[in-house]
Amino acid sequence: MTTIRLPGLIDIHVHMRQPGGEHKEIWETGTAAAIAGGIGTVLAMPNTSPAVVDEASLDAALGLAAAGARCDFGHYVGAGPDNAESIATLARRAAGLKMYLGQTFGDLRLDDISAWKAHLEAWPEEDVIAVHAEGSALKTIIELAESIGRSIHICHVAGADDIRRIADARERGVAVTCEAAPHHLFLDQTTDLPPGRAEVRPRLGTPEDRHALWEHLDAIDCFATDHAPHTLAEKDGDNPPPGFPGVETMLPLLLTATHRGLLDLDDIVFRLHDRPVELFGLPVDEGSWVEVDVDASFEIPMSGQSRSGWTPFAGMPVKGRVDRVAIRDELAYEYGEVVAAAGTGRDVRRKGSTKR
Ligand code: DOR
Ligand code: ZN
Ligand code: ZN
Repeated sequence: MTTIRLPGLIDIHVHMRQPGGEHKEIWETGTAAAIAGGIGTVLAMPNTSPAVVDEASLDAALGLAAAGARCDFGHYVGAGPDNAESIATLARRAAGLKMYLGQTFGDLRLDDISAWKAHLEAWPEEDVIAVHAEGSALKTIIELAESIGRSIHICHVAGADDIRRIADARERGVAVTCEAAPHHLFLDQTTDLPPGRAEVRPRLGTPEDRHALWEHLDAIDCFATDHAPHTLAEKDGDNPPPGFPGVETMLPLLLTATHRGLLDLDDIVFRLHDRPVELFGLPVDEGSWVEVDVDASFEIPMSGQSRSGWTPFAGMPVKGRVDRVAIRDELAYEYGEVVAAAGTGRDVRRKGSTKR
C-alpha cells in the first residue's frame, strides 16, 4: 500500500443533465460520482434542456447545482445564434462560454460563422471560451481566434490531425489551449463495445489517433472527462445518444497509465489541478485533497454512483484507487462511501472566491 495525497482535482468538462435529463443524472448523483473519482470541483456544460443561454436559465441552473452538489461547481453558459452581447454580461458568474461548432447532443449547435465571430469579440478576454470543434471547424475557429487575437480552449481533442493542428498553432504563439478526455486516451475503434455504447462525439479514433494524443501530451493543458451520462437502455436502444459517463473512472485510468510509464503523477496534477486553476481563475483551498492508493488493483465495475448505470471501461483492470477525498476540510468520501451531503458544494464563481 502506497498512499499519496494530491490536491483536490478539477474536472473542467461535465454534463449534469439538470434540468431536463434527470433520468440520466442529477447533481446529487453526478457529484457523488465525481467525488468517488477523486474530483472536488466540476464545471458543468450548458446543453441542458432547456439550455443555459440567458440570465433566467443560468439562475435556474445555479440554483439546482447549489441544492444538489456534493462537490464544488461552476457552470458554463451556451453560445446561441443571437445572444453574443447579452450572454457576455453574465461572464463573471459563469465558468466560461461554451460554443458547439460540430455534431453534439442537444440543440446548441452554431453553424453560422458570423455568430462565432460575434461571440469571440463580445466575451471578455480574461474569461474562457470552450469550443467543441473538429476538423475544418477547428481550423476555422483557430484562424478566427488568431485574427481577432483572443484565446480559445478546445474541448476533447480526439484526432491526430486535430492535436497536430493545435500543437502547430501553439508553436506559432496562438493562444489556444486544449483538453483530452480519458475515453480518447484509453479507448479507440478497436475497443470491443456494442455500437450504441460506442457512440460519442468526437467519435473514438483509430489507434493512431489515440497514440497521437499521448505523443502530444505537452500540448494538452487539461484532462477532462466530458462526463456525458445517458442510460444503458438509451445506449442500447434504437437511437443511441452520444456520450460516456467518466468522472468515476478517470483517475484510476490515469494512475494505471503512470505504472505503464505513459505519464507521471505531476503530469496528472498539472492537468487536473494547476492548469485548470490557472485557466479558469479558480479558488484553491488547502483543505481540498484526494488520497489515492497507487498500488491498489481492481477491475472497473459496470456501475457506480452515476445514475447512468454503466461505463465503457467496465472490466478493465486498473491500478490506483481513490481512498479518501476532502473538500474544504470536510471529508467527502471514505473508502467506498460518499459522505458529503447534497447541497454542500460551493459555487466557485460566488463572491468571495479568489478569481478576481
Ligand atoms: O458525446 C457527446 N456527448 N458529445 C457532446 O458533444 C455532448 C455530449 C452530451 O451532452 O451527451
Ligand atoms: Zn463537446
Ligand atoms: Zn461535453
